[in-house]
Amino acid sequence: MKTNLVSVVIGTQWGDEGKGKIVDLLSETVDFVVRFHGGNNAGHTVITGGKKYPFHLIPSGILHPKVIGVIANGVVLDLAVLVSEIKMLEDSGIKLKGKLFISDRCHLIMPYHRALDLAYENVRGKDKLGTTGRGIGPCLSDKVSYNGIRIYELINWTLFIEKFTFQTNLKNKILEALGVEALNIDQELQQFSKLREIILPFVTDTFLVLQKALTQKRAILFEGAHGIMLDIDFSPYPFSTGSNVITGAVNTGAGIPIQAVSKVIGVVKAYTSRVGEGPLPTQLAGELADQIREKGKEYGTTTGRPRRVGWLDLEATKFACSVSGVTDIVITKIDILSDLKEIKVCVGYKLGGKSIPYSSCGYTELAKLTPVYKTFLGWKEEIAGVTEFKKLPKNCQAYLKFIENFLGIPIKLISTGPAREEYIQVGPKL
Ligand code: GDP
Ligand code: IMO
Ligand code: MG
Repeated sequence: MKTNLVSVVIGTQWGDEGKGKIVDLLSETVDFVVRFHGGNNAGHTVITGGKKYPFHLIPSGILHPKVIGVIANGVVLDLAVLVSEIKMLEDSGIKLKGKLFISDRCHLIMPYHRALDLAYENVRGKDKLGTTGRGIGPCLSDKVSYNGIRIYELINWTLFIEKFTFQTNLKNKILEALGVEALNIDQELQQFSKLREIILPFVTDTFLVLQKALTQKRAILFEGAHGIMLDIDFSPYPFSTGSNVITGAVNTGAGIPIQAVSKVIGVVKAYTSRVGEGPLPTQLAGELADQIREKGKEYGTTTGRPRRVGWLDLEATKFACSVSGVTDIVITKIDILSDLKEIKVCVGYKLGGKSIPYSSCGYTELAKLTPVYKTFLGWKEEIAGVTEFKKLPKNCQAYLKFIENFLGIPIKLISTGPAREEYIQVGPKL
């Protein structure tokens, strides 16, 4: 019997916690998997049957035969990326007709959004933010300044041409002022007319699809992107992404009432990683950082950039769990921590000799503060692929128990490798 009808998987750190793997794993028993915010700045990896699937827009649960994927209104869409993902799946024999639904309310990432994203980074110079360059910020800022263009317009080609021409002429002025070549409207429109043909058959009112699913008591899993430390409101702004990442985005990004959510599953990587700029209080340097980065293959799924790595920051993670109402914890990449002499975990911050909580810190404080660490003895044994808690080394068990007690939230799953079957179930199934 399906008991948890509406669950949300959310990243509790700076992204890349392993959400894709967990969403795929949990999708075995659900009917719908829904992306509700962000865009193709997300990169979610699923590895199954010896094959690797990098998802940027299509929900990571789509590989399961019975799962229906929904891209709801909160997602910003780069149509070329979406089309290449559809092709990747269809080439692997996964037919998407009737299996993927896209909201007509989704805003479109336009060529000028990508160009502006890169141009703004360029003019920021040494103060660049390290965005993914996918046009996310400029697209979302057009959304809130009423300059956005949605799939709604794409349906009506004449309306689309009108809006696109107006906006491109406007943005070309800005691009030229920033020393960037203007976009060719006719060429871009030709490209859109091809993409449109492929996308439109998937477009529908996803609000109705999800409301019907709720009424019929079907199981829905919401797939969070990024991590709460990148939330537009709760990150050290402007070292943020453009969307809200917290659980509340399920309501704004898909129209599901918040009280319908019965489980919020917080994904916690056993250490920390960060792509892009911005303070990272527990960041490591030197050999230790290289060892973790190489073993953990910490290179961006979207941009290929090396990720900065650090110790697990429980001060920040505890905040993330509070702000998003996390009910269950999933630990990932614990296998990467084997063979370290000792492992540290941050249990609080000190600034000027006084304790300061994450929520009171902006980027200046986060860059200056001193993390308070608790140190654990490491373990030598490799634990990749272990499927039973009791088979974990005692020091590893102690590390995990500490995390659970500190957060005050039960750990329900421990991922021990990138492939679908590499995990430990703790207690009843999530
Ligand atoms: P996401 O953005 O949160 O979905 O995470 P990414 O896919 O960007 O990055 C996580 C990386 O770690 C991917 O390469 C996954 O295949 C891999 N991964 C996920 N869980 C585990 C795990 O438990 N152990 C190891 N070694 N790799 C994992
Ligand atoms: P997943 O879903 C890691 C980061 C970027 C940059 C900042 C702003 O794979 O966990 P943007 O392009 O969003 O305007 O960039 O946000 N960022 C991510 N970092 N994983 C992600 O997604 C990210 N999505 C955005 O690196 O620092
Ligand atoms: Mg990722």
